[in-house]
Formats: sequence, structure tokens, C-alpha cells
Amino acid sequence: MLKIRSATPADIARAEYICIQTADEKLKSNARRARITALLFSTYYIRHESRNCFVLTDEEKVVGYILCCTDLRGFLKSYRGDIFKEVCKLSPLWGVVCLFIPVKYALLQKRYPAHLHIDILEPYQSSGYGSRLMQALLTRLKEQGVRGVCLSCGAKNTRAIHFYEKFGFESLFTAFGGKMMGLKTALDER
Ligand SMILES: CC(C)(COP(=O)(O)OP(=O)(O)OC[C@H]1O[C@@H](n2cnc3c(N)ncnc32)[C@H](O)[C@@H]1OP(=O)(O)O)[C@@H](O)C(=O)NCCC(=O)NCCS
Repeated sequence: MLKIRSATPADIARAEYICIQTADEKLKSNARRARITALLFSTYYIRHESRNCFVLTDEEKVVGYILCCTDLRGFLKSYRGDIFKEVCKLSPLWGVVCLFIPVKYALLQKRYPAHLHIDILEPYQSSGYGSRLMQALLTRLKEQGVRGVCLSCGAKNTRAIHFYEKFGFESLFTAFGGKMMGLKTALDER
């Protein structure tokens, strides 16, 4: 039976696995590149902000997640600290990329203080679980009074873009092949 629950640190390795499985082929062309992808796009969130992360489980096995950061200061610290060091050990060049990842979120921080990542393993996609994960996170963000949430999506990932638009996310700008999208919460509209 499939369930959604809050993430715990024990879910980190499985979330990294799902991040790699659902990533574009070019982001996992070899084992080292795949590890860098997991570090850049999944590890921080459950490690440092598990309160803002949910997982989808099938008989206890994690098969999807929504990961969110509401603490940009903590994110910056980590992408200059623990995550940066781990990426640098694998590739100094990607270490430089790591330093720039928070920039796009910093630019949007005022209107969209949070950002998210969502991924579900292929056999579990298109069955409404992504919508349920998104709903769980949006409820959590509203409870915390978070004004808005943004994300970066592959500009060619039309399926994901439709998914986000269904929730009211708007396109903000496109840079380096990534489309930034943002959603203001109901609290912001008051
Ligand atoms: C994007 C993703 C999280 C959506 O979750 P999901 O569980 O598949 O989506 P849902 O079943 O809740 O569907 C919600 C909406 O998403 C879109 N969608 C879902 N599956 C789709 C498909 N096969 N084709 C086109 N649109 C689709 C539709 O707009 C759908 O609305 P509808 O049900 O009214 O048609 C999931 O498909 C996924 O993990 N994909 C691979 C990784 C990825 O692209 N992650 C996002 C990176 S930015």
C-alpha cells in the first residue's frame, strides 16, 4: 500500500537513488557524475531540512519524494560547506558549479523564499502521487506562513511543466536550460 510520510535522515540514501534514477541521462553518464547529481539536487534537503520533506512509500520502500528548502541561509552555508566539500572531492569543477546553485534561489528569495524538488520512480508516475506529495508540502508551507515556493525545471520537461502549471506555478525566467517557476501561496495574496 502506498503512503506519504515525513522524511527522516534514514531516507537520504534512497532519495539519492531516486534522484539519480529520475535524472536526465547526461547527469548520470558515469558513477561519479551520478553521485555529483545526487549531492547537488537531493542530499541537502533531508540532511538539513527533513521537516520540509515528504516521501512516498510502497510497503516501507521509498519510491518518490518532494524535497524543500525554506532556509536559504542554511542552504548557502551547506553549498559552501558540507555539500561543497563532498562535491569538490569528486570534481573541483563541479565544486564551482555547486557554489553558484544557490544564486537563482537567492534572486527569487523575496517573493519565493522556498524551493522544491519532486521525483517519483517511473512505475509510480501518473497515478496522482505527485499531486498528493505537492499538496502535502503546500499545506506544510502554508502552516509555516511561507509566502511562496519556486523550482528549476528542465525547459524541455513539458510533462513536469504541465504538472507544475496545474498547481498554479508560473514561469519566471529561463537560464542555462533550466526554467524557473514560482507559486505564491494563498497567504501572500491577502
Ligand atoms: C513530474 C512528476 C513529479 C509528476 O508526478 P505524477 O505523480 O506523475 O503526476 P500526477 O499523476 O499527480 O499528475 C498530475 C498532472 O501531471 C501531469 N502529468 C502526469 N503524468 C503525465 C504524463 N504521463 N504526460 C503528461 N502529463 C502528465 C498532468 O498535468 C497531470 O494532470 P492530469 O492528471 O489532470 O492529467 C512525476 O511524473 C515525475 O517524477 N517525473 C519524473 C521526474 C521529473 O520530471 N521530476 C520533475 C523534475 S523538475
